[in-house]
Amino acid sequence: MADILVIGSLNADLVVRAPHFPLPGETISGSDLHIIPGGKGANQAVAAARQGASVAMLGRVGQDGFGQFLLESLKSNLVDVTHVRADDSATGTAIIVVDANGQNSIVLSVGANGKVSPADVDNASGFTPGLILLQLEIPILTVLHAARVAHQRGIRVILNPAPAQFLPDELISLVDFIIPNETELSLLTGIEVNDIPSAEQAAQTLLARGAKHVIVTLGSKGALVVSGKQVTQVDTFTVEAIDTTAAGDAFIGGFASALLGGLEIEKAVKYANACGALAATKFGAQPSLPTREETEKFGSGLD
Ligand code: RIB
Repeated sequence: MADILVIGSLNADLVVRAPHFPLPGETISGSDLHIIPGGKGANQAVAAARQGASVAMLGRVGQDGFGQFLLESLKSNLVDVTHVRADDSATGTAIIVVDANGQNSIVLSVGANGKVSPADVDNASGFTPGLILLQLEIPILTVLHAARVAHQRGIRVILNPAPAQFLPDELISLVDFIIPNETELSLLTGIEVNDIPSAEQAAQTLLARGAKHVIVTLGSKGALVVSGKQVTQVDTFTVEAIDTTAAGDAFIGGFASALLGGLEIEKAVKYANACGALAATKFGAQPSLPTREETEKFGSGLD
């Protein structure tokens, strides 16, 4: 039985490094093409598994080479893929440009991820994980259904609202932790988030809509934990970013495994910050996700 069930996306990332992002109408030359296992759901599954959690993935791929490639990556990281269905859609892909500063720009072709259904969630009802991880690269109705089922069964849920989109209040109130970055929080709340006070103000509006704990990831400024009246800023670790792709996923997987391991929220966020910082130092999504050993060594060396 898995500790963590991730219900979400699997993408083949088609990645090119470029000196800068092309302007509209501009053609520029970049590096060779890299095909890398990704997708926010699958990345978070691998991130938690590399931290030692037992993880199962629920999602969809196509019956094509990319689908096989993504399943192999999950399996080689000991993620249970019993509930990843191969259907007649194309496997999801992400077209990614990484610039000279390690920042990325991503266009998704949702493919099979768009078919993940409430019935898929019901088919996995044999699972009773300690925690469910949700993101927004699969249909919102499936995410809402999963949150309802988890709530009824007393299973804790972490929602990473990425990519950001409108969220019904019911979903916000059903989950235990909602973890957006600054951009996502701005889009979710209509409040421009560019510093700690604005992050707190925006997070408070999610609490007013029923959220229990909001954790805002703030890049080099760390993370802000807002739980009721208690607000805590948790510093991060300074690194030279090579590629920030999946740094947020490393944070979520690290947070989930630390929480399951019994750490209190602020300590789990500190641990997650170390996971995110480490992921930013390596190229690619799943290849950049740190192991538990790497994270403990890094965190104790820099704390
Ligand atoms: O969070 C990073 C991920 O976003 C990439 O792996 C890409 O597939 C997109 O889903």
